Amino acid sequence: MNDVIARLRELLGPDCIIDLALAEGFLSDWRGLFHGNAACVLRPRSTDLLAQSLRICHESGVAIVPQGGNTGLVGGATPDNTGLQVVVSTGLLRKIRKVDPVDMSIVAEAGATVAELQNAAAEARASFPLSFASEGTATLGGALATNAGGISAVRYGSARDLLLGMEVVLPDGRVWNGLRTLRKDNTGYALRQLFAGSEGTLGIITAAAMKLVPLPVAREVAFCAVKTEDQVLDFWMKLRAAAEGNVRAIEYLSGSCVELAKREGLRSPVEKADHYVLVELTSSRPEAGLKDFLEAFLTDRLEDGSIADAALAQSGEQQKQIWRLREDQTEVQKKAGYDFKHDVAVPVAQVPGLLRRSRAHIGAVFPDATLVPFGHVGDGNIHLNVILPAALGAERAAEQGRQISKSIYDIVVSLGGTVSAEHGIGRAKVDLLESKRDPVELDLMRRIKASIDNEGSFNPGKLFRLSRTETRSRKSGLSE
Ligand code: FAD
Ligand code: MLT
Ligand code: ZN
Repeated sequence: MNDVIARLRELLGPDCIIDLALAEGFLSDWRGLFHGNAACVLRPRSTDLLAQSLRICHESGVAIVPQGGNTGLVGGATPDNTGLQVVVSTGLLRKIRKVDPVDMSIVAEAGATVAELQNAAAEARASFPLSFASEGTATLGGALATNAGGISAVRYGSARDLLLGMEVVLPDGRVWNGLRTLRKDNTGYALRQLFAGSEGTLGIITAAAMKLVPLPVAREVAFCAVKTEDQVLDFWMKLRAAAEGNVRAIEYLSGSCVELAKREGLRSPVEKADHYVLVELTSSRPEAGLKDFLEAFLTDRLEDGSIADAALAQSGEQQKQIWRLREDQTEVQKKAGYDFKHDVAVPVAQVPGLLRRSRAHIGAVFPDATLVPFGHVGDGNIHLNVILPAALGAERAAEQGRQISKSIYDIVVSLGGTVSAEHGIGRAKVDLLESKRDPVELDLMRRIKASIDNEGSFNPGKLFRLSRTETRSRKSGLSE
């Protein structure tokens, strides 16, 4: 291993290999649930240097853990604790290579943050629509590798729906340049889509070409108090029918989420309720009449009783305050106790049933637990999170958390849902994937993995469980 590190240091220069004493931020995940060790952390400055580094690692059978902004929520970017894996960070690959307002595309390096893409697009009077609370740190490569969704997926799709082309360094160090920006290109398998959602198990995405959309110049945000789960769905159905093309976000918050946010000093502009819906409408036409439309729509809903209260933001500042109730949830919940995340999705029609059944079960069986569900209701994607009080102690909380998670995933599957909607599998959900997915589907995935990474050296133990042979060969690598 020392020889490999010496060769990498010579290739990249000392400033592109991070001293392990300073590498703590690369060795744990954002939630602080996973901790690892590494032989070294590489930060190559170009695709070519990254490819040469991977070739050196490949020759020596060294395992690689790709890492972007390290904001992932399932431990996918954290190395194991052997100290033998090499973390490859895209932190220095962050150029915006091209913004093309005619083609409506942007080509950027994988380490550019989602916010940097949004800003570059806006300078060209266009919009990069992917958006979520960690966008200031999460990278383009990470968003693609996890196929991130976020708040605007209801209108523009997840990361892979915006993907036009890709540049990838393969496990053996070869570079695949598929950086095309074509809207139509039926030339065989859509290989780029294999790497989207592959969570660093097939190679390192070094750049991508992404779609842009027209820049919104009109924006309206409203927050509504709703009495029942069915009314949440009813509200969305009616809004979709009336304004589908303009809905940029339709987000659900349970009463418990808003109470948590209030404890952190945030204010809700509507009366207290068991459920809330946040709506954002946007248009690229300044005179789109969004405000009049939304005002009339909300008045009708108040009159027909499908919502109990509503507030339409009157300024950019008020829009931000409403959004904070939603966007701060991850941080607020992290502080509130032991938080157990369940990033799930069900068919949209099943969302009320999912919320009701989970609440009834958790309430009856786990009196210490607080259910704090929220999320992207228009996509049927609910973050069915649960908080257990700190006073329970780590051990009891972990045991209860396991039981709670099992019952939630069972309910989700019984409703035709999925155990991971947008965060991926990473390390956290490997067993869950194996137990809930069709064996044929799993077999196909393993074959794809083996055909691109036949040594199993890319992000081992993520997405798939390590097989016995892999565990043995990695251990023997340890003694070399
Ligand atoms: P990392 O965490 O560094 O890596 C994630 C995975 O991708 C790992 O498996 C890693 O190995 C792999 N990877 C990273 N870069 C590359 C690359 N260049 N090539 C190949 N593999 C790579 N996610 C959502 O989908 N929707 C949300 O609304 C959302 N909200 C969030 C809010 C907060 C506050 C936080 C902390 C996270 C949120 N996330 C959300 C999760 C996370 O931010 C996203 O999944 C994000 O896309 C990860 O990007 P990253 O650069 O941080 O990736
Ligand atoms: C979000 O939508 O804010 C995140 O994906 C959810 C989470 O932190 O569970
Ligand atoms: Zn989310």
